[in-house]
Amino acid sequence: MINKKEILNLLTAGDEKSLFKMADDVRRQYVGDEVHLRGLIEFSNICRNNCLYCGIRKGNAKAVRYRMSEEELIKTAQNAANMGFKTIVMQSGEDLYYDTSRMCRIIETIKKFDVAVTLSIGERTYAEYKAFRNAGADRYLMRIETTDKDLYHKLDPLMSWDRRYECLMMIKELGYELGSGIMVGLPGQTIESIADDLLFLQKIGIDMAGIGPFIPHQETPLKNEKGGTLSLALRTMSVMRLMMKDINIPATTAMESLHPMGRIMALQAGANVVMPNVTEGEYRKFYELYPGKICVDEKPLQCRTCIGMKIESIGRKIGQGYGGHNGKMPIKK
Ligand code: 5AD
Ligand code: FES
Repeated sequence: MINKKEILNLLTAGDEKSLFKMADDVRRQYVGDEVHLRGLIEFSNICRNNCLYCGIRKGNAKAVRYRMSEEELIKTAQNAANMGFKTIVMQSGEDLYYDTSRMCRIIETIKKFDVAVTLSIGERTYAEYKAFRNAGADRYLMRIETTDKDLYHKLDPLMSWDRRYECLMMIKELGYELGSGIMVGLPGQTIESIADDLLFLQKIGIDMAGIGPFIPHQETPLKNEKGGTLSLALRTMSVMRLMMKDINIPATTAMESLHPMGRIMALQAGANVVMPNVTEGEYRKFYELYPGKICVDEKPLQCRTCIGMKIESIGRKIGQGYGGHNGKMPIKK
């Protein structure tokens, strides 16, 4: 086990190249050379929350809001499945228009396309998580964002850290594969608190975790803050790989938004998952969590082809299976 002092040391001292190399070696040994792709559908940017960092916070009156219809969402998922994606991730703001019955109908239909289904729709009740699971949802993604409770409450004024933690526990108990993660470079966040975040993710036994640099958005209260660096995000991710050797770790979109090769750098520093955007049309542009988001003018097939080539160019292969943690298989419907 790596202790906090060692984590702090790895995050701050020493040559990053050798850290990345160590993480890359652990990745190869524990999860192999396959890179698992997840097709990400950004199906609504309507959100009841007001997180200070987030471009789709409800206080951003300039955001152009959209919500896909049930048919549109299902069609998008079907296209992604036809393109070969074995996992569909449905992500949105916290938009309660998608109530239990609507969500369950969508999940049940998408499960017919022989894919694993991941939800990333925020905080819901136990009854809802249970209904989604019964409808066939396999995985759930919800970042804890930071384990510094004071910072969390400053940045997410309408939310409670304890409540979020409870949600993560409910999701786990219901047998979902649990994905979480954090942002690095938040205003007021210390390296020490990032070390605590990593220990937290390890303790709760996540199946997947994403690390993204915070990128300030012009239409939010944090517009004049500095933002996180790619280097710190990659370092944090590498240390996470050393601590949690066999979990799924995505090369995040936010990393690539800071550097044209960000995801490839991540795949060579511990990551083994990529989540290409499969959202159609203008919605991509409107799902602007942070500025400079990549792929806003691309189409699903373009992203699939682009990332496929990048992955093969570094001698890795695209995973053909569902890519669950420890080979866990999706619910059969
Ligand atoms: N910069 C980087 N990441 C962000 N997210 C939200 N806003 C930003 C931002 N300004 C991340 C959060 C959220 C995920 C979907 O996007 O971590 O969980
Ligand atoms: Fe939507 Fe933060 S503003 S989850």
